[in-house]
Amino acid sequence: MSRLVLRSGGPLRGRVRVPGDKSIAQRAVLLGALAEGESRITGFPLSGDCLAMVACVRGLGVEVEGGVMLVVRGRGLSGLRAPAGPLDCVRSGTTMRLLVGVLAGQPFESTLTGDPQLLRRPMGRVVVPLRRMGAEIETVDGHAPLTVRGRPLRGCDHVLPVASAQVKSALLLAGLWAAGPTTVRQPGPARDHTERMLAAMGAGVEIAGLAITLRPASSLSPILLHIPGDLSSAAFPLLAAALVPGSQVTVEGVGVNPTRTGLLEVLQAMGTEVAVEDDRGRGEEGHEAVADVTVRASDLEGVEVGGERVVRMIDEFPVLAVAATQAHGTTVVRDAAELRVKESDRIATAVAELRALGAQIEPLPDGFVVEGPTPLHGGVVESHGDHRLAMALAVAGLVAEGEVVIEDADCITDSFPAFVELMRSLGAQLFTTETRRTQSSS
Ligand code: S3P
Repeated sequence: MSRLVLRSGGPLRGRVRVPGDKSIAQRAVLLGALAEGESRITGFPLSGDCLAMVACVRGLGVEVEGGVMLVVRGRGLSGLRAPAGPLDCVRSGTTMRLLVGVLAGQPFESTLTGDPQLLRRPMGRVVVPLRRMGAEIETVDGHAPLTVRGRPLRGCDHVLPVASAQVKSALLLAGLWAAGPTTVRQPGPARDHTERMLAAMGAGVEIAGLAITLRPASSLSPILLHIPGDLSSAAFPLLAAALVPGSQVTVEGVGVNPTRTGLLEVLQAMGTEVAVEDDRGRGEEGHEAVADVTVRASDLEGVEVGGERVVRMIDEFPVLAVAATQAHGTTVVRDAAELRVKESDRIATAVAELRALGAQIEPLPDGFVVEGPTPLHGGVVESHGDHRLAMALAVAGLVAEGEVVIEDADCITDSFPAFVELMRSLGAQLFTTETRRTQSSS
């Protein structure tokens, strides 16, 4: 178990690249497994969540070779094999929810499990609509482990109560094996990587506003894909640059799919200088936009965030809360009750940990209110096993007046294994130590 120690210091400067987009990477491996032939994926992030997906796909009899350059030998839509034992999704909600959609229509039984943190997260949101399609899935009171007894499925018209890309994707993936079309109507614009990738692989996908219809496919073509940098990881160095006086940071080659860019809009509304440039237009398969994003240190103003924009930045609220502590005036976040069912209850954990550093932050049932600017002070805070909370607290540590120590910081590797090295390359002062302070590493 390691802790992360941060000290405030001089400006952050430089051009960096962040790991490949976690959401796109997980979909690429899973869909590659279902294609007829070899998919080649470059820029694959070797993070915990993505490796969990790779291990599960291998458990279904699919050969996956390589690392950052990955080859997936697809077995086609009827080629998956019954796993020898439970598939371990570790702490990855996306792995579990996408896989349950795929497994629902297979001619075998399988079990999905994971770490205690994942076993606490709600699975009824995906299991209940899958049952409408004819799936037979056993839960433990709405939670994993999930036992999936594959069945022939029928297409359905689903109206989702929450805008969740994981649920939407699970239902569309199940639709690949269903008799008749599957329609998913979402209440907001959840990330659309699944439908883009399915369409690029030749599946019949129709999009009408927030409704997506998938027609069962006879086969999927393999993909050749370079995964753009993950904007949700780029958010940490970019926000740090916005907050540390004199800083300027560019993250190159980052995905700027409009279903993911809410944070950039909010930063601009707060008065941050944000440049999105060198738009190479489209990724290798022509379905994801890529750009270089630069942020310069600025005086920030409080902001109100609610409505559909929340969906387009759902993973960025812990770090937005940190920025809000340094902004002039009040920041109000609403319509974000989904934050309560992420890797931690991000409303409760962000409020508790930022208060421990001196922030004025109040929880709301569906968001939070921050009064700023507040000088943050040093202290010992907890990651709650939540990678995005840990990295947000690290950004707080770069502007706090004393040393900030983040306990249980290993979870950062779930999405951003090289976070410490990358932040140090920009000039930040941070290092990890073992919990017992017997040994120090990088
Ligand atoms: C993800 C969707 C989001 C997001 C998660 C990744 C995905 O979750 O928070 O980090 O890859 O589909 P929800 O779909 O539950 O909102």
